[in-house]
Amino acid sequence: MASVDLKAKAEDVRTRGYCVLERAYTEEECAQMRGHLDRAIADRGPHSQEKSVISCHPLFDFSPDMAPFFGKSLVVDAMAEVLQDDVCLSHNGAGVWANEFAGPHLSPWHVHYAWDVPDGGLQRDVPERILCNIYVDGSGEAIGPLVVLPRELNDPIDALDEGDKIWPGEETVIIPPGSCVIFDTALWHCGRRGTSGGLRHLCGGHYQGWHNERAHVEDNSASQPELDAHKDVSPGLRGLIEGP
Ligand SMILES: [Fe+2]
Repeated sequence: MASVDLKAKAEDVRTRGYCVLERAYTEEECAQMRGHLDRAIADRGPHSQEKSVISCHPLFDFSPDMAPFFGKSLVVDAMAEVLQDDVCLSHNGAGVWANEFAGPHLSPWHVHYAWDVPDGGLQRDVPERILCNIYVDGSGEAIGPLVVLPRELNDPIDALDEGDKIWPGEETVIIPPGSCVIFDTALWHCGRRGTSGGLRHLCGGHYQGWHNERAHVEDNSASQPELDAHKDVSPGLRGLIEGP
């Protein structure tokens, strides 16, 4: 992809709650990721009315070969700019959805901010923790869109409403396959059902700066021994797991 203004991306996260790295992964990389994810869920399928999504948490327990994709330098550099720190992988996961079996929402409105907000509200210079999800098949009407409620860094985190409603000010994220979305854990978001019959592959992680050791309820393991060989060839992945 063309050169990316990482400072502008970090500013997007501060002023809108999220940024997009369009086509951060090539078509070939997306095909590889789809293959890995399909194999990871193969013995837990098929999808059904009762099981419209099959999840892998931690992803590396199911598919250690997905790990090198997390270490891509552009993506890690963008997260470092957002966090203003070296980047630590705190959670890895994936989900594969089947639109044909889903309700109106692939996932309901939610946030991942799980810490107490201090008296007087948030007073942050940067997000303490972010997500970076890889939309292997993109996000849009056919495959199923990510929908977000844009926010400034220290806006309150209160929900606008309960349930699976259309929220005033919501924004539908339309991006091509292989794009990443980096977002503040305080960003409200949901996934809506798409019109296509295809599978929607989504993977990614939660990240904190290495100087922020605060535990979070969604932390999980990236200590699988199968990752050693991948870390040997991906300095970016090693840094995410072992530190700078
Ligand atoms: Fe989420």
